[in-house]
Amino acid sequence: MSANQSRDGFATKLGVLTATLGSAVGLGNIWKFPYMAGENGGAAFLCIYIAATIVVGLPVMISEIMMGRHAKSNAISTWRKVAPDNKLWTLVGVSGVVAAFAIMAFYTDVVGWVFSFIVMAVSGGLNSTDPKIGEAAFSATVSSPMSALLWQWGVLALVSTIIIGGVTKGIEKTTKTLMPILLGMLILVCIRSLTLPKAGEGLAFLFNPDFSKVTGEVVLMAMGLAFFKLSIGMGTMMTYGSYFRNDADVPFTATRVMLADLTVSILAGVAIFPAVFNYGFEPAAGPGLLFMTVPAVFSSMPLGQFFMVIFFVLTGLATMGAMLSLFEVPVAFFIEALKWNRRKATILTAIGLAICGAPATLSFSTMSDVTLFGLNFFDFYDYLSSNLLLPIGGFFIAIFAGWKWGSDKVERALSNRGTLNNQAIISLYSVIVKWITPLLVLAVLLKGLGFI
Ligand code: PHE
Repeated sequence: MSANQSRDGFATKLGVLTATLGSAVGLGNIWKFPYMAGENGGAAFLCIYIAATIVVGLPVMISEIMMGRHAKSNAISTWRKVAPDNKLWTLVGVSGVVAAFAIMAFYTDVVGWVFSFIVMAVSGGLNSTDPKIGEAAFSATVSSPMSALLWQWGVLALVSTIIIGGVTKGIEKTTKTLMPILLGMLILVCIRSLTLPKAGEGLAFLFNPDFSKVTGEVVLMAMGLAFFKLSIGMGTMMTYGSYFRNDADVPFTATRVMLADLTVSILAGVAIFPAVFNYGFEPAAGPGLLFMTVPAVFSSMPLGQFFMVIFFVLTGLATMGAMLSLFEVPVAFFIEALKWNRRKATILTAIGLAICGAPATLSFSTMSDVTLFGLNFFDFYDYLSSNLLLPIGGFFIAIFAGWKWGSDKVERALSNRGTLNNQAIISLYSVIVKWITPLLVLAVLLKGLGFI
């Protein structure tokens, strides 16, 4: 048993995997990845995103889980335990909690749109091959302040209910049920999309790289997506690592989650792009791609309404594991550091999120003119988290694991105190996390922000 017997945690090895994968899979795969790839050259973007995931994402993920499991603590207190002599490291944890709020603020808004699209898809209101109908439905959804807020609050209430259930009975149980259903549905939609006559054009877009559209900013976006996708750089994986069993193989689990998550992104691309090209739609439609193009695309095919409903339901399901893991970051901190009970921590977090989230939701209506650094609140939260807080957090995590913590501790933690025979993997990890990951993150950050 763990040293900390009273602490809730993931009870089974399968639960460790589904909860971690459930955190990784979400809007990042189904909403962000397709629209970003659509805008930034398709396959070229995919290549950079895959490279960032492997060279930067995976080492940071392993580091975070390793530190969380060692400290058996939340995202902030973990730093106090692993770096007791220097309080400055705790700031990385604080930035993670801020990032969790920033992400949830816009994430719950988008999930609200997804839920309202499920209702519209079921009622048949989206059955039209004219993209104008999807466009009108989308702008009606986002621009009506009260209904957008109500959807967001509904989402927060739903997630809170599961979080109050706890780690084993809430998070683990939910993700174990949802992940297989989600994968099954996604594969079904892929098959439908691939059997369309002109599917080849969409596949060429997704898999034939044209690097002419790639700039420093595009690379930063692809790296930001890799961080966002793997839920790293902000303490989610640290918090989840603290629930890992002591016999879980951290590098192996992280690698499996990374590969499965990449597969889901690619499957989402395979579900969307062949259909988009087959019916002559525009791949570069931006954040509205999922909501404006997808209904029209599905309405153009036989059994379209059925597949449209499946598609939005699977998107809604995919967001649950991600939101649970985001929510758990502040909740775990409040429970452990402020000694609040789980119910109180959850309810107060939800209220805080409703307050931070409202300006994001209202960015498309009453607050559309309010900007911070030239961005509306929605885009500001997104940019701040994906392109700044997560890469910066990831940079410091890599520096800590590679340079500060000590190779003996890293080795003990990753080999489960010598019970796993994975010396070669640990050596490879140590070289990458020391030299490659931090330098790449730094270079991409500086280049993407225009400093070099
Ligand atoms: N990985 C999730 C997704 O792609 C988002 C997320 C980011 C979740 C950061 C937790 C922490 O949708």
